[in-house]
Amino acid sequence: MGCLYWFLLVFVSWVLLIPSTHELQTSQVQVLLQLRKHLEYPSSLEILENYEGDPCNLTSTAHMSITCQGNSVTELKIVGDKPVKVNDFNGHAIPNQTLSESFYIDSFVTTLSRLTSLRVLSLVSLGIWGPLPDKIHRLSSLEVLDFCSNFMSGSIPFGISRLNKLQSLAMDTNFFNGSVPDWWDSLSNLTILSLKDNQLKGPFPTSICRITSLTDLAMSHNELSGKLPDMSTLTSLHVLDLRENKLDSGLPVLPKGLITILLSKNSFSGEIPNQFGELDVLQHLDLSFNHLSGTPPSALFSLSNISYLHLASNRLSGSLPDNLSCGSKLGFVDISNNKLTGVLPPCLDSTSDKTVVKFGGNCLSTDGQHQHQESYCREASMSKQSRVRDIGVLVAIIGGAVLFIVLLGSVLLILCRRYCSRVQIERHTRPKVVHDNPPTGVSSEVLTNARLISQAVKLGTQSSPVYRWFSLEELKEATNNFDSSSFMGEGSKGKLYKGRLENGTYVAIRSLTLLKKYSIQNLKVQLDFLSKLHHPHLVTVLGHCIDGGGQDDSSANKIFLVYEYVSNGNYRTHLSVLGKEVVGLCQVSGTLRCPFIFNKKRGGEGMKTA
Ligand SMILES: *[C@@H]1O[C@H](CO)[C@@H](O)[C@H](O)[C@H]1NC(C)=O
Ligand SMILES: *[C@@H]1O[C@H](CO)[C@@H](O)[C@H](O)[C@H]1NC(C)=O
Ligand SMILES: *[C@@H]1O[C@H](CO)[C@@H](O)[C@H](O)[C@H]1NC(C)=O
Ligand SMILES: *[C@@H]1O[C@H](CO)[C@@H](O)[C@H](O)[C@H]1NC(C)=O
Ligand SMILES: *[C@@H]1O[C@H](CO)[C@@H](O)[C@H](O)[C@H]1NC(C)=O
Ligand SMILES: *[C@@H]1O[C@H](CO)[C@@H](O)[C@H](O)[C@H]1NC(C)=O
Repeated sequence: MGCLYWFLLVFVSWVLLIPSTHELQTSQVQVLLQLRKHLEYPSSLEILENYEGDPCNLTSTAHMSITCQGNSVTELKIVGDKPVKVNDFNGHAIPNQTLSESFYIDSFVTTLSRLTSLRVLSLVSLGIWGPLPDKIHRLSSLEVLDFCSNFMSGSIPFGISRLNKLQSLAMDTNFFNGSVPDWWDSLSNLTILSLKDNQLKGPFPTSICRITSLTDLAMSHNELSGKLPDMSTLTSLHVLDLRENKLDSGLPVLPKGLITILLSKNSFSGEIPNQFGELDVLQHLDLSFNHLSGTPPSALFSLSNISYLHLASNRLSGSLPDNLSCGSKLGFVDISNNKLTGVLPPCLDSTSDKTVVKFGGNCLSTDGQHQHQESYCREASMSKQSRVRDIGVLVAIIGGAVLFIVLLGSVLLILCRRYCSRVQIERHTRPKVVHDNPPTGVSSEVLTNARLISQAVKLGTQSSPVYRWFSLEELKEATNNFDSSSFMGEGSKGKLYKGRLENGTYVAIRSLTLLKKYSIQNLKVQLDFLSKLHHPHLVTVLGHCIDGGGQDDSSANKIFLVYEYVSNGNYRTHLSVLGKEVVGLCQVSGTLRCPFIFNKKRGGEGMKTA
């Protein structure tokens, strides 16, 4: 009897306990409601409004999912509808784009950290703004963290390194702008690291090379610079995406398991290592828009799985062997805009439409696609000096023009001071030389000009605004597609337009026609140097863009220079508008895109590669 009694008691209490073990603790429900308030009631969480039941019972949608275990939340995914704009974000709320001024990321993360059992957290396109606080480490059970497409800025907090169960970390399309930290090896179980499309600076962190579990590494569209280290230790790595950074070493040895390698639009130099021809499982290789030289390894073309091979716009030279064999899966090859000579190997000169081959802008002895005279490739690969001289001449011409105008201006100014207002001219000390460490390989003429420019004028003491790249689309928008109403005049140096940028700044835009003779590669060097002539006393060039018809260097036909516009047209404006030309660098690809100006995709796309 006693036995039955005990059995009944246990059974009854078991039955009574079932609902409560499945029901979310009220405290966790409170946290969810608070988060909803922090996030200013995003439409994806509308379903929580007046919802009496257990949030864990909500059916997942594409924009919201809550998973529980026991009585706590283990997975939380919310996708908002906040737009992601590329406009300069200065760390403060932007109406209709970020959460409001009253959002406070610190208390938001404090609330979040009460979901102590969270293993998966995904908060995408919610307009979350501000520096990610270090206390993120309190979510110590996290295995997957996705903060893509928000407005987080500052450095990546050290707290992340304490989330040592993390397997996937994605913080693409934010505004993280410190240098990349170098503590990644404490995340020993990490397989996916994606920090695309931020403003991260500094050298590539070598600690990444010690996360042997890593399969996907994406840090494209940042400002990483310097050397890419030997990565052969990353034996699990399948995807490496470092496009559009400022890496400028040679190409290192890469792990054999790579399927996708995207290193375009950096400044890699030297030859393509023969080891690349041994990457047996490689399918996509993009090395375009770098400074690579030498002859590409033939084995690259015959890899058994290679389907996409993009080597355009480098300085590759020599000739591909006649007996080059192409892999059976090769679908796209682009070797255009290099310095290749000789014949196009038969396997690339395909009449079949199985493979798209682009080879224009070389010196190949073939009819199809535009080819240069052989001297173009010989000269370019042979003597760097002549190129430097070419650039020197162009720089000198522009410099000369600047100098002339500057001198004219200062003479006028001096005359004006003397005779108009009779103000005594103060003696002032010589301004500093514009640029203390000029890049090597620039002619002394240029340096002399630079010095003269800096000595010639001393006007206001405003600091220069940050120089940046503009997209053609942006300039079209600013000028209403170069409408006649924005046309200001035309001089020997091209047309001048007045425009208004999206942030409200008025600008003057000069369109210059580019001499065919100067390829984008040449321009790079020259523009780079000229951008350093930036001088607060002289001119205010806000940026520029190059309009190119396509991937063919020789079709780049216009440069737009964007100047500050001052409506009263004082002396300084005239100088600005007339004076300084050409600056900086904007790379051209199929559709005109500048490094910082590209469509940010909404949503946590994670590691998808094109
Ligand atoms: C959740 O769903 C389960 C079964 O689907 C049900 O038994 C339970 O009562 C629900 N809980 C709440 C609080 O609605
Ligand atoms: C990062 O961005 C914030 C906000 O725009 C700014 O205040 C800060 O100075 C930037 N830091 C660096 C290192 O550029
Ligand atoms: C924000 O968007 C709403 C509706 O889309 C609009 O009515 C409002 O004017 C916008 N506010 C600002 C400051 O742009
Ligand atoms: C890493 O993963 C392994 C196997 O999945 C697991 O045993 C280990 O506990 C994990 N390490 C950490 C720090 O979570
Ligand atoms: C080529 O790719 C296929 C899958 O796409 C894979 O099964 C095969 O093993 C790869 N070949 C080599 C040589 O790795
Ligand atoms: C191509 O020809 C070169 C010599 O001209 C030879 O060394 C090489 O093995 C040949 N390659 C193939 C794939 O036949």
